[in-house]
Formats: sequence, C-alpha cells, structure tokens
Amino acid sequence: MSQRAEVAAAPADLLEYLHSDPRGRELAEAIDWGHLPRQVAIIMDGNGRWASERDLPRVEGHRAGITAVREAVETAARAGLQALTLYAFSVENWKRPQAEIDALMELLKEYLARELPTLLRHSIRFTAIGRLDGLPDDVQLDIRDAAAATAHNTGLRFVIALNYGGRAEILDAARAAVADIAAGRLDAAELDEERLAGYLYTRDLPELDLLVRTSGELRVSNFLLWQIAYAEIWVTDKLWPDFRRADLLQAIADFQRRERRYGAVAPAGA
Ligand code: FPP
Repeated sequence: MSQRAEVAAAPADLLEYLHSDPRGRELAEAIDWGHLPRQVAIIMDGNGRWASERDLPRVEGHRAGITAVREAVETAARAGLQALTLYAFSVENWKRPQAEIDALMELLKEYLARELPTLLRHSIRFTAIGRLDGLPDDVQLDIRDAAAATAHNTGLRFVIALNYGGRAEILDAARAAVADIAAGRLDAAELDEERLAGYLYTRDLPELDLLVRTSGELRVSNFLLWQIAYAEIWVTDKLWPDFRRADLLQAIADFQRRERRYGAVAPAGA
C-alpha cells in the first residue's frame, strides 16, 4: 500500500482557467487541495510605482490593478477558497489628492457594475468591511446592491476592505461590546477573545491563514490587526498590477510548506 496520503486533485474549473498558463498549471498540480488556507487577505500595493515606471498618472496604476483584482477573485473562486479579502482603501487613504480618491471610488463602482455577472457565474458572495457609512452615498448604494445580488451565493466569500483600519475595527468592536455591557446584554466578566471577535467586521468570516502583500514592503499597514495573530505572511516584490493568477497559487503553495506551531513546539521527529 502506498505510504502517500490521498491528495485531493486540482479543481477542474481552475485547470480550465489556467489552460494557457504553464506556471499556474504546474503550481496547481503541486498544491495540496485538501489543505487550503481558510481565508487569504491581500494588501494590494504598488499601483502608483507601476504607473510612474511607465510615466503614467497614478490613476492608471489603479486601473491596471483592476485586472489583477479580477484574476485574484476568479482564481480564488475556481480554486475553492472559502474567503478572499482585499484591502482597497484605508482610513488613512483620505489623505491622498481628492482627484485620486474620486478615481478610486469611480473604479470601484465600475468594477462592481462590470463584474457582477462573473460573481454570479462563480457563486461568489460579495461584502465590504470598514466604516462604510463614511464612503460617498453612491458607493454605499452600489456596495449594498452588489451584496444583496450575491447574498445567496454559496461559493467564495469575496470581501473588499474600504475606509478600513485595523485599529478602527478593534475600537468599533470595543465600543459595541461596551454598549452591550451598559445595556445589560453582556456580562463584562464574560467578555473574552471569542466574544470580542464576534463584534469585529469579520465575525462571520473563516480564520485568516494567509496574508499576501505586493511591492516588497514589509509592513502590515493597519490591516486586519486582530485577525493576523497567527496568519502566515507572504510578500512578493511584484507590484499589484503585475500580480497574476499563478502568483496567488505560489503564495498558497509556499503557505503549505510553512510549519505552523501556534506558540507550541514542533512535534518530535518533525
Ligand atoms: C496601493 O497602491 C493601492 C491602493 C491604495 C488602491 C487599490 C485599489 C485598486 C486596485 C482598485 C480598486 C479596487 C477594487 C477592489 C475594485 P499605491 O497607490 O499605494 O501604490 P504606491 O505605493 O506604489 O504609491
């Protein structure tokens, strides 16, 4: 009898998507499909540098970044990931020039309008996290519409973080817990990690196992601060607009080679 444990095969849906991508197919064959990260989150960085390398306005970097968003979402869905969270606009990004902020909001609206058929075709359920009430009204409306249109989908949970800050999220959770305590709905002595996590924007998402960052920067940038406690971090020098489907598969393959100890020691003989 073979010593090798049964390894789940690459999803046919994904192999079809990788038909003209030899590196992607090779990675798909190498991945252990029975042990995927439950949630992958991505800090999409380097759009501005991508544009300036080409003497283009920064906004063109963001526009090119949409192609990478599309590929990451479709790869994640076809790969059978449970959840993919993308960091699109932070609470600090309001410091950018107004024209760039406006262009980012417009790109988001265009993306949601154009991609809805793809989200439906792959049974992707879309939601946004962050202080959404601080976004322009028309953007809030489009987010609500896309979330409602995909609410009954059962495949990939696709989450965009907008007007998001990790500290703001923890503060919002703490305030909500304090309000519940004050109203007698929660006993302060019973507030523990699990209960506080139940107040986070991500309360109904699976555990974050893998955080990806592009453009080589070794920072967390106020993203999912609570959730990354035990996540593996994977960084590529590629700028976000150059991030392709095989790069996401590479991150997953490398994740599977990491030894995760959660503060314990490695088992004897490992
Ligand atoms: C970081 O690059 C990127 C952003 C702040 C925005 C990311 C947004 C998109 C890819 C488009 C809209 C998103 C979705 C989900 C439809 P940067 O501008 O900080 O690059 P730099 O560090 O090179 O200046």
